[in-house]
Amino acid sequence: MPNKELLLIPGPTPVVDEIYEALSRETMGHTDLRFAEIFRDALSITQKMFNTDGEVFVIAGSGTLSMEMALVNTVAPGDKVLIVSHGYFGDRFIGICNALGIQAEALVAEWGKQVNPALIEEKLQEGNFKAVTVTHVDTSTGVVSNLEELVPVVKKYGALFILDGVCATAALEEDMNKEFGGKDNKIDVVLTASQKAIGVPPGLAIVAFGPKALEARRQMKKVASYYADIQNWSHIMKEPFKYFATHPVNMIYAYAQGMKIIAAEGFAARFRRHTAIGKAIRAALRVYGMSFLAKEEVAAPTISCILYPEGVDDVKFRSSLAQKGVIAAGALGPLAGRGFRVGHMGNTSTEQFTHAIRVIGETLQELGLAADCEQAVKVYHQVFAENNQA
Ligand SMILES: Cc1ncc(COP(=O)(O)O)c(C=O)c1O
Repeated sequence: MPNKELLLIPGPTPVVDEIYEALSRETMGHTDLRFAEIFRDALSITQKMFNTDGEVFVIAGSGTLSMEMALVNTVAPGDKVLIVSHGYFGDRFIGICNALGIQAEALVAEWGKQVNPALIEEKLQEGNFKAVTVTHVDTSTGVVSNLEELVPVVKKYGALFILDGVCATAALEEDMNKEFGGKDNKIDVVLTASQKAIGVPPGLAIVAFGPKALEARRQMKKVASYYADIQNWSHIMKEPFKYFATHPVNMIYAYAQGMKIIAAEGFAARFRRHTAIGKAIRAALRVYGMSFLAKEEVAAPTISCILYPEGVDDVKFRSSLAQKGVIAAGALGPLAGRGFRVGHMGNTSTEQFTHAIRVIGETLQELGLAADCEQAVKVYHQVFAENNQA
């Protein structure tokens, strides 16, 4: 089932044929041993991707459920959480904390910038933060968090490090065994979803809990959720033919295929490819006079929030792109109408990006702006090649 349109939004991302084929396979029973085998293989690659000694959970839901799972299983009502927010999705943790009765304090960056680690340290010195949430890439702003800086600061104060990888997993390294400047300085939870850099349709909540996060769950006798309680899922993930709630069987087929594709590409190669694509897309769009909300030093490999040059009408621009089969997203919040967002992650190809760059240039020309499409495509190839070397 080839895609008719190019989904250039920051998720869902284009789904490749092998994944559609997996999705449309005959549905087996959710306790069928053959299904369990497929699920086990997918979980095993997930575990390797996060390089964790802990446990991984893949259940029906979306990224918001995985955010909730991360918090409800590690932080008790009344405990304090520090939220490090680089945009709309960082802020979402505030609402989740409120719903769960967790005391939330937030450090919110100006859109397009990172939160200064010194401010985080100052806040943590006040004491008693059970966990800190960090959004690896905020999909509203295209800002990437600097884990090298943030993990040591959070760990110095003994808080759990919860990482939202919804717009990063499978495109950026999220190694839960990596020591960030000290043997205990590790990421404790990574939460994510199927529809972005993993390249599978929306529908799965994916969460990895490291040993300290699992210990935090054990310390809490009960939690304020039934479906999202990892203790109800832990034995199921080890023996996926057992029943707690019905698995989304066809989505697991698709996910298993997605994980195979990721493993075949190789984690390091996939991360490198995404870094190269991000740089190349931004360099190409600069040829058209476009600028970016996030400065290059903090720009994400997976999504860019692009600011229009003078004279571009957002609705006209994006609807004209859509008529040509290229679907881009609008800018959010304070930037609505002033820019657009492009996802550049997942199982995507150079042909797709060069096509998109041409179509964007042609659309600008239609709107009366000068745009050198061939030069932009040339720059894309050059920058991609320079940055995609092993
Ligand atoms: C960084 C980030 N976190 C969380 C979410 C929420 O995920 P979902 O929409 O799948 O519930 C999104 C959605 O785009 C996201 O980009």
